[in-house]
Amino acid sequence: MNLTGGIAWHWLAWRSQARWAKTSKAIEDWLLQQASFSKLGDASEKPNLLLIGASAGWMMSTQWLQQFARVDTFDIDPLAAPLFKWRNGAALKAQSVELHCHTADALQDLPALLKSHPKACVFFDNVLGQLRFQRPASAWQHVERDVQQIQKQLKGREWGSVHDRMSGPTTETILLSDELPVRSIQQTDQQWLTQLKAQSPWLDHLTHSVFPNQRDGQGVSVENFAWNFSPSYRHWLQAGWVRP
Ligand SMILES: C[S@@+](CC[C@H](N)C(=O)[O-])C[C@H]1O[C@@H](n2cnc3c(N)ncnc32)[C@H](O)[C@@H]1O
Repeated sequence: MNLTGGIAWHWLAWRSQARWAKTSKAIEDWLLQQASFSKLGDASEKPNLLLIGASAGWMMSTQWLQQFARVDTFDIDPLAAPLFKWRNGAALKAQSVELHCHTADALQDLPALLKSHPKACVFFDNVLGQLRFQRPASAWQHVERDVQQIQKQLKGREWGSVHDRMSGPTTETILLSDELPVRSIQQTDQQWLTQLKAQSPWLDHLTHSVFPNQRDGQGVSVENFAWNFSPSYRHWLQAGWVRP
């Protein structure tokens, strides 16, 4: 059973587009700042992208995808490929971006996938925070190992991820009109959670070490986003872009 995708996700995402729009825009702005290739004018220099956990791209920026020469999407959900094409196909075609949508488990044999696309960038689109749902709750150490394994497999590759860091109920109702909380550089995790109006306990998605050297603060620059998932439930998302 797919606990993080499928018809329930599509229905929720479709219904929540207005509520999630501010987070999608913040992620889009961040994505557009990341890739150095975005400034290249020559189409022949555009890279390819492997988009993992793509679903229908409910929170993905079409503008960002338009900067690639070719996009390959991967999702285990069979509804994802037709819905992704329906939502993004025309806009990508208009910019001559080749689109290939695959129904596949892209994490099962990531090394083989990377080998068959040796120069492509990789983006994990809100999927690494879901790994913990694919193992029993008691197996959290396995999940951390899975995450570290993925990081190792990507060595030498340009890649990025946006994923859940934590999620949970809020102490106050979040209105559609409320500003999205923005984390300041000085804030500790605890201060950020207070700003998110987190009501304990929040779920740890076990993604604290997705990026190289994330633990010692010397590695990849990590961006934090609030995601107003529902009027009474928020996610703390983290995103980073890794250059080899
Ligand atoms: C939270 S949803 C995010 C969807 C998408 N990024 C969006 O903006 O709509 C996580 C997605 O990851 C997919 N997924 C989970 N494990 C996967 C795997 N091993 N390979 C590919 N996709 C996977 C799920 O089917 C689901 O569609």
